Amino acid sequence: KVIYDRLDALAAKHTTTAETFNLPGESYEKRKIQVIRMTSNVASAESADKPLIWLDGGIHAREWVVPATMMYIIESLLGEKEPDKTDQMNTLLDKYQIVIAPCINPDGYEYSHEEERLWRKNRKPSGCKSNKYNWFGGCFYTWCYGVDGNRNWSADWGRVGVSKDPCSQVYPGKKAFDQENTRIVSEFLSPHKDKLKLYVTYHSYSQLFLTPLGYTTAEPDNYQHHLKVGTAVVAAIAQRHGAKYINQRSAALYPASGDSADWVHDTLGVTDSYTFELRPDENSWRVG
Ligand code: ARG
Ligand code: ZN
Repeated sequence: KVIYDRLDALAAKHTTTAETFNLPGESYEKRKIQVIRMTSNVASAESADKPLIWLDGGIHAREWVVPATMMYIIESLLGEKEPDKTDQMNTLLDKYQIVIAPCINPDGYEYSHEEERLWRKNRKPSGCKSNKYNWFGGCFYTWCYGVDGNRNWSADWGRVGVSKDPCSQVYPGKKAFDQENTRIVSEFLSPHKDKLKLYVTYHSYSQLFLTPLGYTTAEPDNYQHHLKVGTAVVAAIAQRHGAKYINQRSAALYPASGDSADWVHDTLGVTDSYTFELRPDENSWRVG
């Protein structure tokens, strides 16, 4: 796979600042979830105690700009891109260990390339259309595939913004973490929760920076902090690229239960847990 080969090549070139590894476990179709860990002196034992930044993407298969953007972030941190920012990047690598997982739904990603461009979910068989099983447990209608990874986490799982129909684009699974890919990522993050200072999950599109929470419009305790961060983030993007991003609470976009950023916020107790919706903006798909 092209992404993983490129990660390996970068790690082979930047041996002091980068290493790649697979998260323990495999996706439903037996693919690995590979990540890259970057920090100054990556091999040293002390570097494992540094505060941790985790970025992931590709939980939705069709959002191809996400893994590509994450590769750009990785290459920028390692000095392959944005050469005039090397000092800032090195400061980050001194202070933090940064782990980036560009593609946490490898089965869906592959499927969106080979079979169906707009595939969103993963590829695990999910059940019978509208749950129309016959007496013998067979299926009257169509058998469906895939669970929405960003509805499968345990934060308020299955309540709003989901559908019980296994064929739906927002089917959350039979229970939280019954999908290999979400379980693998959550099991990796859980033991690191005290070190984890920043979680960002990347999606596309709409140009939004979404702050907690996603399942309720109620204001979280740390909302003033989120507001400050969000305002700074969208201002920085506007200044650098002229792109207008909007900072808003996730549930103000639409309430949805079981998303990854809410799980990191609530269960791991990480204040800084955000969702990006990258370019283009929401009006950019005018046809004709
Ligand atoms: N577009 C993403 C999704 O549908 C964003 C979800 C953000 N979370 C939320 N609760 N609105 O999964
Ligand atoms: Zn998405």
